[in-house]
Amino acid sequence: MKIAVSGKGGVGKTLVSGTLARMFAKDGFKVLAIDNDSAMNLSYTLGIDQETKDKIVPISEMKALIEERVTVKGAGAGVYNINPKVSDIPDKYKITGPDGLELLVLGSIEEPETGCLCPENALIRTLLHNLFVKREEVIVVDFEAGLEHLGRGTAKGIDVMLVVTEPSQKSLDLCKKIIDLSKKLGVINIYLIANKITDGSQKEIINKRINDWEVPLYHSIPFDLEIGKADLNGESPIDSNQDSQAIQAIKSLYLKLKQLKKDLFDL
Ligand SMILES: Nc1ncnc2c1ncn2[C@@H]1O[C@H](COP(=O)(O)OP(=O)(O)OP(=O)(O)O)[C@@H](O)[C@H]1O
Ligand SMILES: [Mg+2]
Repeated sequence: MKIAVSGKGGVGKTLVSGTLARMFAKDGFKVLAIDNDSAMNLSYTLGIDQETKDKIVPISEMKALIEERVTVKGAGAGVYNINPKVSDIPDKYKITGPDGLELLVLGSIEEPETGCLCPENALIRTLLHNLFVKREEVIVVDFEAGLEHLGRGTAKGIDVMLVVTEPSQKSLDLCKKIIDLSKKLGVINIYLIANKITDGSQKEIINKRINDWEVPLYHSIPFDLEIGKADLNGESPIDSNQDSQAIQAIKSLYLKLKQLKKDLFDL
């Protein structure tokens, strides 16, 4: 099952994607977590040790690799191979973390509004497409904030799109855009996840706001001081306190997704 996590900046995408990846791995699934955010902090949430973290080079910064795969020799500047060979890249560059999970750090590239056909992008986009369509593991992608990353190629093969919101108008507005675009691109299972909820009335208001969205409020996660504490200590939230309210809420989200995986893939 390929799970993508998206939403506005700071809403909790990395917390949700990293913790879900750990839960699938703990349960014995083969998991490949993908960091597609320029801040590249999924490794913290996953609980990857510092020494390993220090060695991470995102694919988007591997100049020699990009040159080798994307540049068309002798063609001059501005001519790129837009369908480079990528199938060997995940296994070559992934790193191993707790519970046997694996992480591939793609990084991300600042894109102008019009979309950029720079070589880094050609490689990352082809890689994402390849990961979604060809790999057999449970894949969890921590997307960059916003919706620029969502294109025809990247949306193909996403089985579940989790759109994370915090209780704010701005966040919900962006979720609506992400949901509409995901639908247009053919993603079928799109679910809204409310994070940083402090009281029941917020859930009610969100439910009212999404009344006509055709996408349910699938799950909600409370605001939890334990998450900030783990963050400040540089620890992964699940290792720091797996009984905390937010981690427990993500656990029940995990159980729903595990059931969904069964419904979608087990005959
Ligand atoms: N349920 C929660 N309770 C308390 N704090 C939270 C919760 N979820 C996330 N946070 C805090 O909010 C901040 C943003 O969370 P996170 O990094 O997961 O969001 P993000 O959407 O990945 O952000 P970015 O867009 O910057 O990548 C972090 O400091 C995190 O510790
Ligand atoms: Mg993040």
